[in-house]
Amino acid sequence: MLEEKVKLIFDSAHKAMQEAADSKTLYDCKVKFIGKSGELSLLMKEMGSLPKEQRPEFGKVVNKYKKMLEEHYQVCEQNLKMAELNQQIKDDALDLTLPGPTQDLGSVHPIPMVIDEIVTILSRLGYSVKSGPLIEKEWYNFEALNVPEDHPARDEQDTFYLKPGYVLRTQTSPVQIHTMETEKPPLRVLSPGSVFRCDSDISHSPNFHQIEGLLIDKKVSMADLKGTIYFFVKEFFDKDVKIRFRPSFFPFTEPSAEVDCSCPICKGKGCSMCKQTGWVEIGGCGLVNPKVLSSANIDPDQWQGFAFGFGIERMAIIKYGITDIRLFSDNNSFFLKQFS
Ligand code: DAH
Repeated sequence: MLEEKVKLIFDSAHKAMQEAADSKTLYDCKVKFIGKSGELSLLMKEMGSLPKEQRPEFGKVVNKYKKMLEEHYQVCEQNLKMAELNQQIKDDALDLTLPGPTQDLGSVHPIPMVIDEIVTILSRLGYSVKSGPLIEKEWYNFEALNVPEDHPARDEQDTFYLKPGYVLRTQTSPVQIHTMETEKPPLRVLSPGSVFRCDSDISHSPNFHQIEGLLIDKKVSMADLKGTIYFFVKEFFDKDVKIRFRPSFFPFTEPSAEVDCSCPICKGKGCSMCKQTGWVEIGGCGLVNPKVLSSANIDPDQWQGFAFGFGIERMAIIKYGITDIRLFSDNNSFFLKQFS
């Protein structure tokens, strides 16, 4: 009778251990069935109700089953530990096929890209590149270029004035003077770079870029200037682009002209880029004013020259149909990548 009870306890303990889903449940089974106050120990206590001669035999039987359950516990514990370890390895596993974090690669910014393109085109005509200071003496930025004290460009609202006598250059034209001061003619120079004006809206930025061109030689005429600009503009935009020179005024050139080209976006038909006129303005030019040559100690009776200045953002805006000048300085990589 008692033996049957042992067998029953053994069977349910064996089954419960077998089915335990984790180490904790398994351990609870051990306590419940073969622990100090477990079911088998309680059964041992009932041994007193047996006749004396049956007791040793009964004790042996209980111990045999207890031992078997202990061994079974070891096996189940081992299996569970193994399964739990495998699960943990699985959970912690790295998927080596997943793409790693990517580094956003930069690309050439459209401003230096356009500068490079212009320099490459004009270097074919013998021009080389010169640079000048961004913090400029007022004299180089204005007086030497024949811009008088009362000229509107010298207004505080247009120019960033620094300590007395110094400005952030408002144009690349002062590099003309630096070049003529340090080099002997004949000269063919280009000077691309940053310029600054107190202005900011959809089409004006307080910091933008220009490229200055200067040629000094003997017997230079408007025809030479026009030929150079025709060549350059057609190379930069498109052979079919038309060019027109509008009489204008710049203190440093005489005569002066503004340069328009037929809108490369709509091919002159009229669009929002050219404000429906079919023409877009790209810069100014003219024959170097003899007063400017004299400021730089070049004899105007011996030497003449022409000069031109183009807005780099403007050239890029027209060439690529960009609608807002602020995109150039927004650091938006989606915008910038389009030019790489
Ligand atoms: N410096 C002028 C400006 O910022 C552009 C310019 C016009 C430059 C005529 C020149 C020139 O060299 O000849 O508007």
